[in-house]
Amino acid sequence: MYTLPACVIADKPEFEWRGMHMDVARHFFPKEFVLRFIDIMAMHKMNVLHWHLTDDQGWRIEIKKYPGLTEVGSTRGDGTDKEYYTQEEAREIVAYAAKRGITVVPEIDVPGHSWAAIASYPELGCSKKSQKVMSTGGYEGEENRIGSSTLCAGDENTYRVYGDILDEVMDIFPSKYIHIGGDEADKRPWRSCPACIGRMADEGLETPEQLQSYMIGRMERHIASHGRKLIGWDEITEGGLAPGAAVMSWRGTELGTEAVRTGHDAVMTPNSHLYFDYYQDTPETEPAANGSMIPLRKVWEFDPIPKEIRGDTLTGRILGAQANTWTEYISTPEHYEYMIVPRIAALAEVLWCGPVRATWDDFCRRLYTAQTERYDAMGLNYHPGPGYVRFTPSFDERDSLYRIYMSCDIFDADIAYTIDGTDPDTGSERYRAPIVVKKPTTIRAAVIRGDSIYSELPSSI
Ligand code: ACM
Ligand code: ZN
Repeated sequence: MYTLPACVIADKPEFEWRGMHMDVARHFFPKEFVLRFIDIMAMHKMNVLHWHLTDDQGWRIEIKKYPGLTEVGSTRGDGTDKEYYTQEEAREIVAYAAKRGITVVPEIDVPGHSWAAIASYPELGCSKKSQKVMSTGGYEGEENRIGSSTLCAGDENTYRVYGDILDEVMDIFPSKYIHIGGDEADKRPWRSCPACIGRMADEGLETPEQLQSYMIGRMERHIASHGRKLIGWDEITEGGLAPGAAVMSWRGTELGTEAVRTGHDAVMTPNSHLYFDYYQDTPETEPAANGSMIPLRKVWEFDPIPKEIRGDTLTGRILGAQANTWTEYISTPEHYEYMIVPRIAALAEVLWCGPVRATWDDFCRRLYTAQTERYDAMGLNYHPGPGYVRFTPSFDERDSLYRIYMSCDIFDADIAYTIDGTDPDTGSERYRAPIVVKKPTTIRAAVIRGDSIYSELPSSI
């Protein structure tokens, strides 16, 4: 038991949307892990769980009116168990999250990323052809592949079915926002589909992007008629943004900035800083991951308010930020934890404290002492911290010398280095001051913590 003296704590978060996205479509994760994910969020005071429930590889939420979505769309077609959450389980998750101050925002992705839905109900696609699910988790029929994960935007049936789906989804999830996806839709089948061509003519639409906007607009009106707000990936801005829609800016922050300039709300989730499925250390030392490298420090340095609008009243329309963690490469809870912890701590600090916050060194001090003790107590599988050494070359005009500065992110660590091409070890020279280089030189360096080497591989320049 701990005793604290009576005190007043004056504290509040800088941003209202402190989000973590969870992809349960590419790989399914059991309910118990979703609850643990919520616990991890709660300990970092994150308050929005964006739950990516549908994608090409799986439909993960029970829809009573369309049981095929989970009968077919949640399986891998190889006799494995159906992998989805019943509505009862989803309600339990929503309640568990609410008790911890977390809102669950469901995502039903339209019109792209819909292979699982179309495999379940072929009439939802432009070709109307059935697509058999394959044991690899993909779907059969190479000739059907082009655009075969895109819903038909012309057929009224699509709107009827998705209206029904959204009604059930809104009944389970009381969140103000409903996420409608909108990203990466392959619009090629719309160009040759009679229903889509007819719809474009009837509505006076000239481009597939406008047809996508028409479709999102229909969804927006449906969602708004239930008193909710639509949010979608930044592609929904491409053919004109529906009036009440909010934008999740993932291809940088520009489209989010543009959205707030035109009177919409935005959440920043740029894949330059906040994709936690990307590598967090040199790829050679890490499990296979997506994309480029987003080390902890890069997350901590992220500012949700782009500098073009800093100080402007528009900044109030930036609700906050969110990390996205897609699970193509992540199939176990342990691996998922490893990808999000401790980058979630860096994002939490950004979103709670805003621009006025402690230094990076102070963040590392707190993280690699008390916070990792908490992680250990929870049995979390977290990334131990980047083991690479950063080299910053600098030319000084006063003495015409090149110097190499070295740094690493690990608190309370030394850097050991060599200049003879050999691997550094605990006995190697310690870095104390920038190294002057007068001729071509290879520097190899490693992080040393205590009396052992922390880096799995030396870094070199
Ligand atoms: C996305 O990463 N496709 C939103
Ligand atoms: Zn069509």
